Amino acid sequence: MEELTGRFREDDKEFDIDFPEFDPKRFYQSAEPSYSEDLIEIYQFFQSEFGLPRRVFYPCCDRDASPTRAFPKSEVIQLDISEDAVDLLKRHGIEALSGDVRKYRPEEKFDLLILLNPCIKTRNATHTIKRGGHIIANDYHGNTTQMLRNPFKYKFHGTIHHGKKPMKMLDTKYSKRLLNETNPFFNLYSVFTKRF
Ligand SMILES: C[S@@+](CC[C@H](N)C(=O)[O-])C[C@H]1O[C@@H](n2cnc3c(N)ncnc32)[C@H](O)[C@@H]1O
Repeated sequence: MEELTGRFREDDKEFDIDFPEFDPKRFYQSAEPSYSEDLIEIYQFFQSEFGLPRRVFYPCCDRDASPTRAFPKSEVIQLDISEDAVDLLKRHGIEALSGDVRKYRPEEKFDLLILLNPCIKTRNATHTIKRGGHIIANDYHGNTTQMLRNPFKYKFHGTIHHGKKPMKMLDTKYSKRLLNETNPFFNLYSVFTKRF
């Protein structure tokens, strides 16, 4: 197993995000779900490399519904602690649950977990996926770093190179270098398997 070297994101932290001037009720009443073309392509690339996930879980999703477009043949479940965000998704026919992912216990575990800027630690969501299930994560809240620091539990497959087409998986050594050198704000999407 390769050593993780260098300085990565602080990993022992959960994030509170406050928007003092922001009135969530009003915002979510008129807002629409958001769909990112980039994310949809990244998820489609994931499927071409790792196969079709039967059940996909996207906690801490806010109003981003990109996985529902990218995985039309999968069962996609989104979850957020914000009831306003969940109501908005449901109004648009998206399957969404309101609640705290740290307490959520699915009846059946998922094949793929998506963690993008989730405000929670990785370990507070990975109980929801099967052994051998995949995780796609960015590192803005340290989720990728947390998995790189625990290679016994999380097998690292590399980072998806999505800047140029065709997309490809960067090898793990190069991916770590890139992650180490890149501001986590500039999203790099990494793929892991939960070993146990
Ligand atoms: C920064 S947003 C990220 C939204 C989306 N994933 C994206 O990247 O655009 C974080 C979201 O996580 C939700 N959240 C924070 N803590 C949570 C928890 N413990 N359980 C479920 N959702 C949570 C917040 O309500 C918020 O909608």
